[in-house]
Amino acid sequence: MADVEALKKEAGIEACKFVKDGMKVGLGTGSTVKHTVIELGRRMSEEGLQIVGVPTSLATEKLAIEVGIPLVQLSDIDGLDIVIDGADEYDPRFQLIKGGGAALLREKIVAQESGSMVVVADDRKKVETLGAFPLPIEVTPFSHEATVRALSRLLDCRVNIRMAGDGPVFTDNGNMIADAHTGPTISDPIGLETKILMIAGVVQVGLFNNMCDAVVLAGENGVETILNPAGRLEN
Ligand code: A5P
Repeated sequence: MADVEALKKEAGIEACKFVKDGMKVGLGTGSTVKHTVIELGRRMSEEGLQIVGVPTSLATEKLAIEVGIPLVQLSDIDGLDIVIDGADEYDPRFQLIKGGGAALLREKIVAQESGSMVVVADDRKKVETLGAFPLPIEVTPFSHEATVRALSRLLDCRVNIRMAGDGPVFTDNGNMIADAHTGPTISDPIGLETKILMIAGVVQVGLFNNMCDAVVLAGENGVETILNPAGRLEN
């Protein structure tokens, strides 16, 4: 069994091949893409790469500053060239579940503003049907119990507010995360995203549909780049 941390590092570093001089780069969140951020910082200091970054979380902002990537606000620029981010699951149509690290709202805003999206993952993230990983949904603290009940009725499954010790997890935006235990049943992620977003109290859902252009996947036999045939990237 290959070491998962080593696979994450391999994928994270390999994805840097998509980043060219002068690009504006969305910097994702999580234990895989952290290797991308570190490698981009290394290329800047050792190889003269020039980029600016937009982080998708406070944790990534801190790391990017540590490794010397200059940061800009999304509001001050006219879009990004690329975002590189992790995922909790991806299906054969390159639809994703994200938000395991509670950063889904900022991640989705950044992905929406990016000309392309590359996902970095180890091969445990590849699934036939989304949903074995509990679907993260960012909800307002106000009346979150009612929102959880509405989600549970809609999805016909258990929905829990994510906890850290005795208290709820709060996102960088001051919201909470409801995890929906749908099981691997999400065969229509676009339809489901639309329905979930219609519930008042839902801020965003961790279904990233029609956003991912390529997956850089590390497995026991090495790292491969799988391009979405309907995507915006070439190898
Ligand atoms: C953060 O909210 C998530 O979307 C992460 O990108 C996702 O959970 C993947 O994280 P890992 O690379 O740590 O598995």
